Amino acid sequence: MNKLLVTGGAGFIGSNFIYYELRHRPADSILCLDSLTYAGNINTLKPALKNGGVKFVRGDISDRETVFRVFKEYRPDAVVNFAAESHVDRSIKDPGIFLKTNIIGTQTLMDACLKYETERFHQISTDEVYGDLPLNRPDLSFSETTPLRASSPYSASKASADMLVGAYSRTFGLKATVSRCSNNYGPYQFPEKLIPLMICKAIVDEKLPVYGKGENVRDWLHVEDHCSAIDAIIRRGRAGEVYNVGGRNEYSNLQVVRLILRELGKPESLISFVDDRPGHDLRYAVDPQKITNELGWNPTTKFIDGIRGTVNWYKEHGEWLQDILSGRYVSANERAGYRPAGDVEYELIGCGR
Ligand code: NAD
Ligand code: DAU
Repeated sequence: MNKLLVTGGAGFIGSNFIYYELRHRPADSILCLDSLTYAGNINTLKPALKNGGVKFVRGDISDRETVFRVFKEYRPDAVVNFAAESHVDRSIKDPGIFLKTNIIGTQTLMDACLKYETERFHQISTDEVYGDLPLNRPDLSFSETTPLRASSPYSASKASADMLVGAYSRTFGLKATVSRCSNNYGPYQFPEKLIPLMICKAIVDEKLPVYGKGENVRDWLHVEDHCSAIDAIIRRGRAGEVYNVGGRNEYSNLQVVRLILRELGKPESLISFVDDRPGHDLRYAVDPQKITNELGWNPTTKFIDGIRGTVNWYKEHGEWLQDILSGRYVSANERAGYRPAGDVEYELIGCGR
């Protein structure tokens, strides 16, 4: 398995995965398919494209012609599908695009995998498909057999995609795996999600908007640990299986925000409690026993070290951040082989093997 098609690789986790694979599997070839939505940033992939280990195609996973053309030409051994609309708040404002990308896009990729007999389709899912847990039951956590009970349009679209993967696997014999990971943090995360947003705001002494009372709990995992889990699943995981991925690392939002402020030497008076997110999930907690027992996977980054490293990364990558905050990254994206959806022509950038 050494030809990977990585969709959504210009986003947060996908780009980290590409760098992970380049470091750990230098002989492999990677093609990134990404439509470069507001969350995709071609600048993030610049070093990878320059190195030559990665090719890039700008295209939409729900556009059948583009997807089938990419498969026909590249013939991937495995597909890792990170491409998604990923932000819960945006899904509450405008659900439609979440259904198109997250459900139809997944179906389109799986149809192409069947046609071109791809060895493995891996769906990057989320712990949010299980809904939430009460705050007063620390004994409870999500296992792979916990029923799906999504709360937001985002998580409902991810749960739908998971059901489709199960159906394609059983009905058509697609060789597929699914991973359901908890909240990630680390380099290259778009500054709309809690941790990078709070870091960016605190650096410039802006108010930090904490929803409700800040008591909601998330189970945080460093993105590098997520990447090592995905690498293990696509190479050694059993087709037809779901694997939960998490760090047993729960913190309330308020605890996370306070930690960031402490790392930056900023006052807690910057915290501003704002209206709660509608339908806000209370607590996530993932039980990763299956992946640990079957594949020997364990996370390695301690939360305090991971947060310190992430805070420093954002301080040291002012240009990457400023490009996003100023909107300059959109022009870079526009130069990146853009073709309107439906037009089967596309360009390759970089000179992958
Ligand atoms: P992200 O929003 O940072 O990146 C998504 C990427 O997908 C972007 O590069 C975007 O341009 C691309 N994309 C969007 N629509 C596309 C389309 N129609 N065709 C092709 N490309 C498209 O997301 P992320 O945080 O890196 O999440 C990646 C995956 O991991 C998602 O499936 C998400 O559900 C899942 N996940 C995320 C987390 C987390 O904490 N961020 C945790 C668990 C699972
Ligand atoms: O659990 C995995 C999921 O984690 C992924 O599937 C999603 O793609 C990813 O976005 C993330 O979802 P969350 O909703 O948990 O992440 P977010 O960073 O948006 O919010 C984390 C918590 O912080 C949540 O309880 C809401 C709260 N929050 C968020 C923002 C952006 C705030 O209090 N203020 C904010 O400004």
